[in-house]
Amino acid sequence: MAAPDPASAPDPASAPVPGTPVPDRDAGPVTRWHRRSGTAVLLDGFHALKHAVRFGAKVEVAVTADRAAALALADELAPDVRDALAALLAEVPYETYASLVPRPHPTAVAALAVRPSRAGNLEKLAHTPRTAPVVVLDLPRNLGNAGAVIRLAAGFGATGVVTTGTLDPWHPTVVRGGAGLHFATAVERLPVDELPAGPVFALDPEGDDIRALKLPDDALLAFGSERSGLSAELRARADHLVALPMRPQVSSYNLATSVAMTLYHWSATGDAS
Ligand SMILES: C[S@@+](CC[C@H](N)C(=O)[O-])C[C@H]1O[C@@H](n2cnc3c(N)ncnc32)[C@H](O)[C@@H]1O
Repeated sequence: MAAPDPASAPDPASAPVPGTPVPDRDAGPVTRWHRRSGTAVLLDGFHALKHAVRFGAKVEVAVTADRAAALALADELAPDVRDALAALLAEVPYETYASLVPRPHPTAVAALAVRPSRAGNLEKLAHTPRTAPVVVLDLPRNLGNAGAVIRLAAGFGATGVVTTGTLDPWHPTVVRGGAGLHFATAVERLPVDELPAGPVFALDPEGDDIRALKLPDDALLAFGSERSGLSAELRARADHLVALPMRPQVSSYNLATSVAMTLYHWSATGDAS
């Protein structure tokens, strides 16, 4: 009989001693939650968890105060991931659930998932040829707007969303606004001088009417901040200034609605169409 290959034999030092709990595998959901909560992405509510699972998030722990109700929702709204959710969800008392989240969600479901690596996201953003635009939010300030934009980008199949400035696009409030759809696109923060390659179409009310333009798949669609519009740095990097139709005397649209109109225009008239 051939001698066992030492490389494939278990390391006696790392083998569990019978009866000794294996860290994590034997820990309850609340212990695992506390171990992960500092670094993981909070998925707040059933819909965020559903989307994250659909788009391949690695969920580390998921809790609910009412497992039967959560699985009934899955039967109704997400039969495609029902079994995965059933395997993940652990029921805890409502008070325990409420103590784990900043603000209880009506569905009483919450989970923690591994944040995708920055290196992986940068690779996706840099990949060419690009088949869908990258949305750039230049110095955004409002966390809810950023979440709504990530949800739009996921819906239109955009390559990713890049933010410049100090707002963290993975902030829990942004993830809540994005309904867990950060996992459906590549979301990162980058300085303007490190934006991915591609022609920059910067949205500004003073630009050329978007209706006369076709937006290419490799475009970077850039939007200014809620308060002060496009920064000088972003303007300097822009290849085209593009305006959304707006009647005189209206100053501007909301940031997220501007992204919605622009992505719709790309989907209806650009390379994508
Ligand atoms: C709320 S607006 C910014 C308003 C800001 N007070 C300003 O001075 O531009 C946020 C962003 O949405 C986009 N936006 C809003 N209305 C637009 C329009 N009519 N045409 C093109 N972009 C628009 C621009 O990118 C703008 O920077």
